[in-house]
Amino acid sequence: MSQQPQSAVGAPLSRVDGRLKVTGQAKYAADHDIEGVVHAVVVDSSVGRGRITGIDTRDAEAQPGVLKVITHLNAPRLAYHDTPAGIRPPGQRLRVFQDDAVRFFGQPVAVVVATTLEVAQHAADLVRVSYDAEQSATDLNDSPAQDGPRPFTQPYSRGDAQQALASAEVRKDLTFRTSRNHHNPMETHATVARWNGDKVTLWDKTQHVLGTRNEIASVFGVPPENVRVLSPFIGGAFGNSLRTWPHVTIAALAAREVGRPVKISLTRRQMYFTVGYRPAYEYKLSLGSTRRGRLTAMTHEMKYETSRYEQFWEANRALGQMLYAVPHVSQTIQIVPLDVSTPLWMRGPGYSNAAFAIESAVDELAHELGIDPIELRLRNEPAADESTGQQFSTRRLTECYRVGAREFGWSRRNPRPRSTRDGDWLIGTGVATGCYDVVRGQAQAHARLDADGTAVVQSATHDTGTGTYTSMTQVAADALGLAVRQVTFRLGDSAMPPAPPQGASQTMLSVGSAVQDTCDKLRQQAITLAVEDERSPLHGADAGDIVVRGGRLHVKGNPTRGETYRQLLARNNRTHLEARGSYTPEAESRFSMYGYAAMFAEVAVDARLGMVRVRRMLGVYDAGRIISPKLAESQAIGGMVGGVGAALLEHTVTDHRDGRIVNADLADYLVPVNADIPDLKAVYLEGEDYRADPIGVKSLGELVQIGVAPAIANAVFHATGRRVRELPITAEALL
Ligand code: MOS
Repeated sequence: MSQQPQSAVGAPLSRVDGRLKVTGQAKYAADHDIEGVVHAVVVDSSVGRGRITGIDTRDAEAQPGVLKVITHLNAPRLAYHDTPAGIRPPGQRLRVFQDDAVRFFGQPVAVVVATTLEVAQHAADLVRVSYDAEQSATDLNDSPAQDGPRPFTQPYSRGDAQQALASAEVRKDLTFRTSRNHHNPMETHATVARWNGDKVTLWDKTQHVLGTRNEIASVFGVPPENVRVLSPFIGGAFGNSLRTWPHVTIAALAAREVGRPVKISLTRRQMYFTVGYRPAYEYKLSLGSTRRGRLTAMTHEMKYETSRYEQFWEANRALGQMLYAVPHVSQTIQIVPLDVSTPLWMRGPGYSNAAFAIESAVDELAHELGIDPIELRLRNEPAADESTGQQFSTRRLTECYRVGAREFGWSRRNPRPRSTRDGDWLIGTGVATGCYDVVRGQAQAHARLDADGTAVVQSATHDTGTGTYTSMTQVAADALGLAVRQVTFRLGDSAMPPAPPQGASQTMLSVGSAVQDTCDKLRQQAITLAVEDERSPLHGADAGDIVVRGGRLHVKGNPTRGETYRQLLARNNRTHLEARGSYTPEAESRFSMYGYAAMFAEVAVDARLGMVRVRRMLGVYDAGRIISPKLAESQAIGGMVGGVGAALLEHTVTDHRDGRIVNADLADYLVPVNADIPDLKAVYLEGEDYRADPIGVKSLGELVQIGVAPAIANAVFHATGRRVRELPITAEALL
C-alpha cells in the first residue's frame, strides 16, 4: 500500500474523458478517417449450412467506384498460423474466404471494396451467391449428432452426490433454460486497416489490443511487431470485443489487396452474425437438503451451444462448488456443437447462467421448507472455499445481506406468494446472490513526469465505457502526489506497455496495481533526487519520510520543509523523469478470491396480462476497495439494467429451418429502455482486500450483473406463485 495521502482515489470524480465524449471529439474506431480510406462491405451467407457453388461478381464489379470484390475464389491463402494468439477457444478459427464451406447463417462469403460506402453497399447487394444448402442444426434442445468437435464433459465431484441426493430429507430436481443473448453494445464493430509495406496499423474496436495484434500477425504470417492496434475509445462491448473477429481480418486483407486503407463498419444486423453471444443453456440442478435447510447435495448438469469449428468454454462451475457449504457436489458439462458461429463471453460470463439456476433453486427450497430465503442462505454459508479448502481473502456476503435487508425493508415482507396486491398488480420481492471471480493478470505501465510538473501515464489497456481513463488517473495522481488535472492517462495502443484484455473484471486490479507500482517508482526517483541534492531543502532527509502533495515534496509532518517537482527538475536541468512498473500476481494464490453481491428486487406483475414491471432494485456489494465511487455506481446501475434485460427481455430468436436469426435488430431484439428501469440503488461495503492485490480492489464489472435475473425471477414467483425456470420471463409464461 502506498503511504501517499489518498485524495483522488475514493473521490466521486466525473469521467476525465467525459467532455471529449459529449462533444463528439472522442474518436471511436469508425471515426478514424485516414487519408485515402476506402470502404468495404461484407456479404453474408443466406443459408445456415452447406457449400458455395458459385459467386457472380460481374454486376458488382461493373459499378463505378468498385475497386475489388474478394471471395474464396480469388482471395490469397492466408497463413493462419496455429500459434496461441490472443483469446481463442480450442478448435480451428473461422478462416475467411479460404474455402467454400458455409458453417452458419450470416458467415462472410465476400467483401466489396469501393471508393464510397454507398457504392460498396449497393455493389454488395449485386453479388450473387449460389449455394448447395443443407439442413442446419441450431436448436440446443433438439440437436441431432453430426460431425464437428465432439461434445465433451468436464466432470467435477466431491463426496457422493447421487447417494446423498437419494437419502436427502428434501430433494428438488429442476431444469432451467436460458436463451441466447447478444451483447448489443451501442457502438457497432469497426476496423480501419492501413498497410505500409509489410506493416499494418489497425484502428479497431477491441478489448484487447495485444490479442488483436497477435491474431492479425498470425493470420497474415507477419511478426507481431509489424502490427499496431489502436483502440482509444469503445462505445460499450460487454465482452464481444475480446476476440479478433473475421471482419478485422477482412479489413486488413482488403486493404492489402487494394493497396489503400480500408474501413469496415458492421451493420447492426451483422452484429448478430460473427461477433459472439451468450450461448443458450440448459441447466439441470438437483438439490438435497435437511428439513432445517442445510444443503447436503447438489448436482449440476450443464449443456450449452458452441459452433462446430470451435469449442467455446466459460467459467460456469465455480458457483456450484464454492457458493454454499455442501458436502456432496457433482457437475458435468456438455458443449453441443451446432451450425452457429462461436459464442463469446458476455458480461458475467458463465456465472450469470449458473447463478440463475442455483439462486432460483435455493429460493424454491426456501419456499418449500418455509424458511426465509436470506436465512436459508445464511445457514449454508461456508467457512472456507470447499472446492479448494482455501480461506477466503475476504467474503462479506452475510454483511451484504444484512445491510441490504435493512435498506430494502425485507422484514416487512409477507413470505406468502401472491399475498400483496396493488390494484391489478401483484407485488413481489426476491433476493439472490451475485458472485464473481477475482481474475488477476500481468500488467505493465510507464509514467513520465515533465518539468512543468504534469505527468503522462500509459498502459496498453482499454476503456470500454467502464471508466479506465478516470480510475487510472486517480490511482496515478495519488501515487505521484499530483492533482487529477495534472495527470493524463493514455491507453488503447498495442505499442504501450502490455496489459491484459479488458475482460473478466481484471483491469482495475491488474492495471491499477501496475500504475501504482510505476508511479511509486517515479515518485521515489524524484525523492531520491531531492534528498541527494545539496541545494534541495530536502537534502539529507530520510526518503521514507517524504510525501508528495499537489506536486510538492515535503517531510511528513513538516510541510514547510520541501519543494515542488518543478523546482527540483529545473534546478537539476532535467526535462523529465520516467519509470516503468508492473504487476504480476503470484503464481499460486493462497486465498479464494471472489466479489460478492446481495441483489434485491421488487416487481409488479399484471394479474391479467402477465406483464412484469421491475419496481425497484438494490444491490449491496463486497467488491473490495472502491477506487472510483461514481464509476462503480454507474457500473452497478448498468449491471442491473443488463440483468433486467436478461431476466425479462433479451432473447436472440433463431429460425431453426435455416439458422437465420429472426430478430437481428434493436427493434425486435428487446433491451431495457428508460421506461423499463425504475429506481436502482447500489451500495458498496466499505473495505479493501489487500490479500487480493496491492491496491485492495476485487472485481466489480461482472459481479454487478450476476444475481440480478434470479432476484427478479424470485420476486416474480413471490408476486404470482408462478415459478418460471426459463429466461427471459415472458408474459406468455405467466398467463
Ligand atoms: Mo467481460 S464478458 O469479460 O467483457
